[in-house]
Amino acid sequence: MTTTPHPIPYQGSKRRLAGAILAVTRGRRFSTMYEPFAGSAAMTLAAASRGVAERHVVGDSLPALAALWERIVAAPGAPADAYELLWSGQLAEGGRAHFARVREDYNRTGDPIGLLYLLARCVKNAPRFGREGAFNQSADHRRRGMHPARMRRQIAGASVLLAGRTTTFAGDAAACVDRAGRNDLVYLDPPWQGTTEGDDPRYHQGLPRARLEMLLEALNRRGVPWLLSYDGRCGERTYGAPLDRGLWGARLELPAGRSSQSTLAGRAEQTVESLYVSPQAVC
Ligand SMILES: C[S@@+](CC[C@H](N)C(=O)[O-])C[C@H]1O[C@@H](n2cnc3c(N)ncnc32)[C@H](O)[C@@H]1O
Repeated sequence: MTTTPHPIPYQGSKRRLAGAILAVTRGRRFSTMYEPFAGSAAMTLAAASRGVAERHVVGDSLPALAALWERIVAAPGAPADAYELLWSGQLAEGGRAHFARVREDYNRTGDPIGLLYLLARCVKNAPRFGREGAFNQSADHRRRGMHPARMRRQIAGASVLLAGRTTTFAGDAAACVDRAGRNDLVYLDPPWQGTTEGDDPRYHQGLPRARLEMLLEALNRRGVPWLLSYDGRCGERTYGAPLDRGLWGARLELPAGRSSQSTLAGRAEQTVESLYVSPQAVC
């Protein structure tokens, strides 16, 4: 069995849950699948490998990430070469100095390949941004980041799945999906409430809940089927208040594995993620 390619290492990737999420559609085929909060686009890659939709739209409001997807899809050799060059630079320069320099360059230029290297090399592959929008996550000094040969295979595999039937979009999710219709599927994985409103904003921007609700209302008015991963619980603790009951048709709880924080604290608790399903049928 071949595994689905996954070139962009990204904390919060839906790679492991993709099969369970797509199972909800029970084999239905859609015209276009939109992933407006794409990150590593794990759901798009899983859907493309299963033929869930004829076309795909991959969007993210972080411009360098959307540009990275554009390059991966359109001409995979060039980003693979550029990553290899950047990755090899750390062997000569030394990991710490090299990471710091790439991070500084990225914050000045927004270079998509710089972002790919930083994501591959930083602590837990977890992007973190300061108030001014600068990438400020540190390097994981125990690892060198995905080896260029492996990265090349992941990039090439993703391009094979998506080329010729995918468009990319840099900007806000609402604009990304404003042409979605009844025969399409929108998969949403916005920054969760806790990572938007807490002390630890995770992504380069969060999404206030009121804006998410407006987005869902607009999709519902147009009869667009959607799936939304949003908040969840670990043991008895819940993350975020449930979404307004008038907005969704069903809510499933998907087991997302053991919580590493709970394990450290000596508790064997499972994390459970909520999957909201639109009032419009998805299967
Ligand atoms: C939870 S992550 C998505 C992870 C993704 N499901 C995966 O498999 O990697 C949320 C993403 O939404 C992006 N984002 C945040 N606010 C946004 C907005 N208003 N519109 C579009 N994208 C946004 C962030 O840059 C981040 O990549």
